[in-house]
Amino acid sequence: MTPVEIIRKKRDGQKLSRHEMEFLIKGYVDGKIPDYQMSSFLMAVYFNKMDFDETTVFTDIMLNSGIIVDLSHVPGIKVDKHSTGGVGDKVSLILAPMVAACGVPVPMISGRGLGHTGGTLDKLESIPGFRTKLNLNEYKSVIKKTNLVMIGQTKEIAPADKKMYALRDVTGTVECIPLIAGSIMSKKLAEGIDALVLDIKTGRGAFMQSKENAIELAKTLIAIGNSFGKKTIGFLTDMSQPLGYAVGNWLEVVESVECMRGKDVPDLMEVTYLLSGAMVMLGGKAKSIEEGISKCKGTIKSGGAYKKFLKMVKRQGGDISFIKDLSKYPKSKFSVEVKSNSAGYVENIDALEVGFVGIMVGAGRMKVDDVIDMKSGILFHKKVCDKVSANETLAVVFADDKIKLDYAAQRLQASIKIGKNIPTQPPLIHASIDENGVREWK
Ligand code: URA
Repeated sequence: MTPVEIIRKKRDGQKLSRHEMEFLIKGYVDGKIPDYQMSSFLMAVYFNKMDFDETTVFTDIMLNSGIIVDLSHVPGIKVDKHSTGGVGDKVSLILAPMVAACGVPVPMISGRGLGHTGGTLDKLESIPGFRTKLNLNEYKSVIKKTNLVMIGQTKEIAPADKKMYALRDVTGTVECIPLIAGSIMSKKLAEGIDALVLDIKTGRGAFMQSKENAIELAKTLIAIGNSFGKKTIGFLTDMSQPLGYAVGNWLEVVESVECMRGKDVPDLMEVTYLLSGAMVMLGGKAKSIEEGISKCKGTIKSGGAYKKFLKMVKRQGGDISFIKDLSKYPKSKFSVEVKSNSAGYVENIDALEVGFVGIMVGAGRMKVDDVIDMKSGILFHKKVCDKVSANETLAVVFADDKIKLDYAAQRLQASIKIGKNIPTQPPLIHASIDENGVREWK
């Protein structure tokens, strides 16, 4: 068997055996198969897909490329949440401390920015000193002591995904259901959880833009989770415009901290409360999602979630003086205001375009080894349905590179549509999904 034979088989639309996939993935992790052959294989999967059985085997191989963590020393039902990726999606930063403060242990392994979407790891690493690369013993110790840990894949946990994720990011092979499913579920099944809540994004800024594709992805993820014996449920949520007002790593940490201190950013907090409420229910600390939501709201009112966040940041090496005094952080050299050309209502903010604008100013990567400018990004002043007057500020873009900033501001301007009439607000939460099917969310 050679890598080329396997690539050609997938290129020609045939189903691969466990043995063939194992050969390719193991060879890639061991450095015997080069990036160009793995890229070619990924593109073949992108076009020809995998059926459910193949996807499950693919996930299992990715999962077993590393170890499966045993967290039996941590009492309680361990629950995590994962988003399929969005723009301005900082939900994990707020939700994880809330759920942990409700008494449910949250061991979270996240990814970096992928394509036009941001990543929880990059956001956390914008906090000076914060270590997302804990070794296994540190990971187990932090979760035991704080009920919460947030790290990236280590060389031990799903190493195949770590390597393939970075490659997919720069080869146009992200938006593919079996690849997304294998990537997400291998990380999640390895981290030592008992249950999982999924946030499946749909709309322009999501990898699965259409509702139909997002539902297909959700069903695949949920079926894989349940087939591995982990209770898995999901929600289909809107990603047609960015979530909240901030896009960019440190800017999103600031918005998250403000929310933990009690600020209400309505769309962001509605999604955050729903997902966290579901986690608290799966963790056995509430009888229903509604009761879970009310407990999570309690951790914001009491300051419990914020305290938990500070504790976790400190334990993972972060300098909490930057969290306590958010103004201490260095600022971008330049900023440009994007203004409305006419009076009216914000009709649309194209989340995909906003994601690309973020990459242009350095908040995301164009190549695997690009270094992120943590300060850069976009702060919206207006969201869809807001009333605006002519020349009013719609958003501010921040960067250290003036030329790139000016291009980015022009592109952002074009991505925000102003209309004469109030548009209809897109639903924020479309549906809930579990092993029994899809239900409209009211
Ligand atoms: N998040 C992941 O972890 N992997 C993907 O492929 C997409 C989103």
